[in-house]
Amino acid sequence: MHKKLPIGIFDSGFGGLSVAKSIHNLLPIENLIYVADSAFTPYGDLPENEIVKRSILITEFLVRKKNSKAIVVACNTATAFSINELRKKFNIPIIGMEPAVKPALKVSLNNRVGVLATSGTSKSTKLSALLENHLGKARFYVQPCPGLVNAIEKGIFDDVKLFKLVEKYLENFKKNDVDTIVLGCTHFIYIKPLIQKIMGSSISIIETGEAVARQLQSKLVEFNLKEYISMSTGSTKIILTGDRKKNVTHVIDQFLLGSNIEFRVEQSWG
Ligand code: DGL
Repeated sequence: MHKKLPIGIFDSGFGGLSVAKSIHNLLPIENLIYVADSAFTPYGDLPENEIVKRSILITEFLVRKKNSKAIVVACNTATAFSINELRKKFNIPIIGMEPAVKPALKVSLNNRVGVLATSGTSKSTKLSALLENHLGKARFYVQPCPGLVNAIEKGIFDDVKLFKLVEKYLENFKKNDVDTIVLGCTHFIYIKPLIQKIMGSSISIIETGEAVARQLQSKLVEFNLKEYISMSTGSTKIILTGDRKKNVTHVIDQFLLGSNIEFRVEQSWG
């Protein structure tokens, strides 16, 4: 397989761009193709079989139409329900997201860890198995956050309505003296400053984007797919499903703030 081929990335919307940023930071000469499944956001409220169906369809598109050499499922919810199926169906490296519970336990001083996730991830057997594996003397508090992904998708990360919603979802963590929060959804990185403001500066917030980028790097090396020589940085194409067009470039700009990714929005699909 040719090393110049792109890395396919997908999420239900723009949250996974936080992962694309980490990938671009670590592997700047790789070409990226990102699918935002905007027509089906949020995945967290969809039935399991629908999430699996969407994940397979998008991966098929990224592999067969766009010749992706590896896939990053930049969505905890899609990973929880469909990663096994994708790995069975596609013969290229498939990297998924998982709430960073183990790193959180290393950081926590009182072993009280909160996991902020979508409704889907919260009730997945994948998450319960993960937490069970790390139980020991730890206490986990899982908080589903309906409505939060849709609010973040607008690309405004600090208005009053959002503040109130996040405050409500953090109530239980506060009550239980949680000192470390795992961001179990790729959208939630964008509200990290809000969480910090509500919980206070001593809270530790754990994210997964960089670890996933490192895991992708080692898979590319292992399968001899890593691009080593290039005169320029890689290209980034963003493809949306459905007909969301209004202000889309401006919204994407907000999600890519702080990175030097130059992107092109391609035709919508699906
Ligand atoms: N970014 C997705 C995740 O990490 C959001 C899922 C959703 O659309 O509800 O879970």
